[in-house]
Amino acid sequence: MKIIDLYRFLCAELTSISNNKIEAEAEGELILISEKFSALNSFNLSKELVYGSSHDIEVKQESHNFILQVIKCRKAGIPIQYIINESWFYNLKFEVFIDKYKKTLIPRNETEIIIDKSIDFISNNKVESALDVGTGSGCIPISILHNIEKNIKWVAIDPHLNEIPLNNAKKHNKLEHIEFQKISIQQFRKLKINKYDLVTANLPYVPSRSKIENTVKQEPQESIFGGKDGLIFIKELINILPRILNDNNSIAIFEIDPSQAEYFRNLRDIFNIELIKDIQNLDRVAILNLI
Ligand SMILES: C[S@@+](CC[C@H](N)C(=O)[O-])C[C@H]1O[C@@H](n2cnc3c(N)ncnc32)[C@H](O)[C@@H]1O
Repeated sequence: MKIIDLYRFLCAELTSISNNKIEAEAEGELILISEKFSALNSFNLSKELVYGSSHDIEVKQESHNFILQVIKCRKAGIPIQYIINESWFYNLKFEVFIDKYKKTLIPRNETEIIIDKSIDFISNNKVESALDVGTGSGCIPISILHNIEKNIKWVAIDPHLNEIPLNNAKKHNKLEHIEFQKISIQQFRKLKINKYDLVTANLPYVPSRSKIENTVKQEPQESIFGGKDGLIFIKELINILPRILNDNNSIAIFEIDPSQAEYFRNLRDIFNIELIKDIQNLDRVAILNLI
């Protein structure tokens, strides 16, 4: 079978699952350029090549079987990033799945705002130490470190830490820059803690009664929900910020649910607050620094 025919078949099947042709085509490309697909065929495809100059490459029978297996998993509601164990974030590839007990949140596009804002801050200020709270796949510190020249010592905490963020840090040569700790924000605040120039946090913030999509139900639920108003974990971190932020020009960057913007605005007695909107024009990131 030619690769272009396999791609068309795959896109038609994925469109019938999601009812969204554009999303299906994007997923189809991710599958065909994945390491798993490449390994079956002994060639690496770039996105352009699927329908560009390589469109008439013959693929092996195993690839067809692999695609049928992928479609079966997608029909069962499993996100594509878990099936191929690849998730793209800030132009880097991250591992997100080992088995049904060991997986992390799939990094989201809106979290890239944290990376942009951190890189801006690091470029214009003296930053030597940083803390990432709720590190999951490790995508935040790894992506920032990948895009800066400075040598920053990062601590990354998560009570559900598994080997996934360590594998990602190793793959992107950042293991020696990040100290991963399996610990919650509640446990962390009881420790004698250091001061940081930058704190990044994408904590579970979805209010517990919110409806979530079926594919999101496959992700670790402890990565998603943050209690009734979604603020349980965020408040734990806010409470210790005055103690852990360096007095001299330091910031904390939070990803938030738009419904939490008011809570952040009300912190204006203690912090300078900047709210950043996502591409849907919703308040998505809050940047805090001590007054
Ligand atoms: C929304 S995910 C973010 C993962 C990753 N930082 C990202 O941006 O893709 C939230 C993360 O917070 C972690 N988490 C859950 N409870 C926590 C707690 N009490 N303290 C710190 N982190 C927590 C979850 O395990 C999960 O990895």
